[in-house]
Amino acid sequence: MYKWIMSGIVTVACLFAVGLLIYALPEKEPSESAEPSSSFVVPDAPVQAEAAERIYKSSCLSCHGDQLEGRLGPKLSQVGATLTKEQIYKQIAKGGGGMPKFEGKLSEEELVTITNWLAEKK
Ligand code: HEC
Repeated sequence: MYKWIMSGIVTVACLFAVGLLIYALPEKEPSESAEPSSSFVVPDAPVQAEAAERIYKSSCLSCHGDQLEGRLGPKLSQVGATLTKEQIYKQIAKGGGGMPKFEGKLSEEELVTITNWLAEKK
């Protein structure tokens, strides 16, 4: 009788181990990189000028100037003519070339708002 109980426990333990293995395996796959891929698209949204200007004034004005005329950073008054939305977004989110990154400082929504606003500057 004892033997049967033991083999029952062993069987259940084995099944549990196999189940755990199957469950855990997919998690070992390399996680997707946080870098936006080339198919990354900034969602279209109606330009919220007021919100965008608020973000601009508090985060960007010091380097890009009161009228987007440029100062420490390049002028942005026609940035929509030279950069795609995705390039603008990436520059803001990731920074680089002397510009700090704003990912983490601004919310995803704020990043999209300021991107769509700048993309209209042509
Ligand atoms: C500390 C100064 C600084 C701040 C603050 C800053 N930028 Fe910049 N920005 C720069 C510099 C410097 C560059 C040039 C980067 C390069 O040439 O690679 C730049 C480049 C850019 C570009 C690309 C322009 C182009 O023609 O290539 C965009 C778009 C931009 N910034 C948007 C923003 C926005 C939006 C904010 C606020 C959320 C911001 N920046 C805040 C310094 C700054």
